[in-house]
Amino acid sequence: MLRGKKIIVGISGGIAAYKIPELIRLLKKAGAEVKVTTTNHALEFVTPLVLETLSGNKVYTDVFATGNDHTTEHISLPDWADLMIVAPATANIIGKMAAGIADDALSTTFLAMRKPVLVAPAMNDKMLAHPAVERNLQIISGYSNCTVLPTAEGFLACGTTGKGRMVEPIAIFEAAKDILTPQPLLGKKLLISAGPTQEKIDPVRYISNYSTGKMGIAIAEEAARRGAQVTLILGPTALRPEHNLLHPIEVVDVCSAMEMYEAAMAHFPEQDMAILSAAVADYRVREVAEQKMKREHTEEMTLSLVQNPDIAASLGAIKRADQKLIGFALETHNAMQHGADKLIRKNLDMIVINSLQDTGAGFGCDTNKITLLFRSGEEKTFELKSKQDVAKDILDHIV
Ligand code: CTP
Repeated sequence: MLRGKKIIVGISGGIAAYKIPELIRLLKKAGAEVKVTTTNHALEFVTPLVLETLSGNKVYTDVFATGNDHTTEHISLPDWADLMIVAPATANIIGKMAAGIADDALSTTFLAMRKPVLVAPAMNDKMLAHPAVERNLQIISGYSNCTVLPTAEGFLACGTTGKGRMVEPIAIFEAAKDILTPQPLLGKKLLISAGPTQEKIDPVRYISNYSTGKMGIAIAEEAARRGAQVTLILGPTALRPEHNLLHPIEVVDVCSAMEMYEAAMAHFPEQDMAILSAAVADYRVREVAEQKMKREHTEEMTLSLVQNPDIAASLGAIKRADQKLIGFALETHNAMQHGADKLIRKNLDMIVINSLQDTGAGFGCDTNKITLLFRSGEEKTFELKSKQDVAKDILDHIV
């Protein structure tokens, strides 16, 4: 994704500048070309030698230096680059970027830059909370080519704890990758259900299934990478989606099928699409015991179960013409037949069919093997792939 991309790393004078060599190393390792520009103060924290050794290029730090490749480096650099990263962005450089002041190599480069700019602020928590800085960050966020990353919370160099830490180099690296990836789902709202449900029997027991939510979480992560605004309704699982700084995934934690149903019905009207990968319990216990059920001296016991609502079918019934609904079918036999039946019965636009008869497919695996079945009757079968790659295939084919 970053191979061959040309990236300007603009460093301003904050203590987090010491982490930027690590960012440069990550970018270089991913195959990007990197050129560095700095404010004068940045060089108090990190030496040109380190930056030049890691980037493999001269550091552009003085607008008037005679040793520059071009006399107008601040114009040629932005023309050369696909992306500029300003990290750390101090309150001072943020103020200049907001006001359009160009009095050093970094700020002049920024003003001439029309391609995307990624800004990673870093400062003391009190400075960050000052209305001037808040206003300046808002102004920069409003520039059509600028993305401002949040700050992290934690130990600050000034000895206090609070907001204002620069996010880690790996997070800046991931955000840079996302910005340079085509974002076909930008502006789209996606609802995704994932994981198992738990149906209570008594305060210590429940009925559930083997789903871990891996497949649905992979779809949520990939959709966010493609720019979608994702709401993930997640049943009880230890897994969480990775943090996407540009398009944070909203996670709605639920436990039972009824909770998942209510969350899905509440969120669906504002969505463009729902992808339902959750393994929902079809039945719940009619009466949940308030106290732990004790072993009786009988050989057998019977639990009375009642049907849960079918979330997919309920959404299918209220689906508008501008909304899409995608379901899953994990089957043990006659997979295509059962899948085709569910596509119609639940009023889906597409169904992802997988069979437990295929090795490497199903609960908890890192891989899956799927067939997509469309409303038109057309079907497409894929090889066994990682769940991340399966997520890409599914999102490539959303109708
Ligand atoms: N589904 C749902 N709500 C339910 C049951 C299933 O939304 N109560 C969704 C699943 O998330 C999946 C699709 O419906 O997208 C198919 O799930 P599956 O359990 O295979 O469907 P069922 O209708 O329960 O069929 P089966 O008789 O095979 O259990």
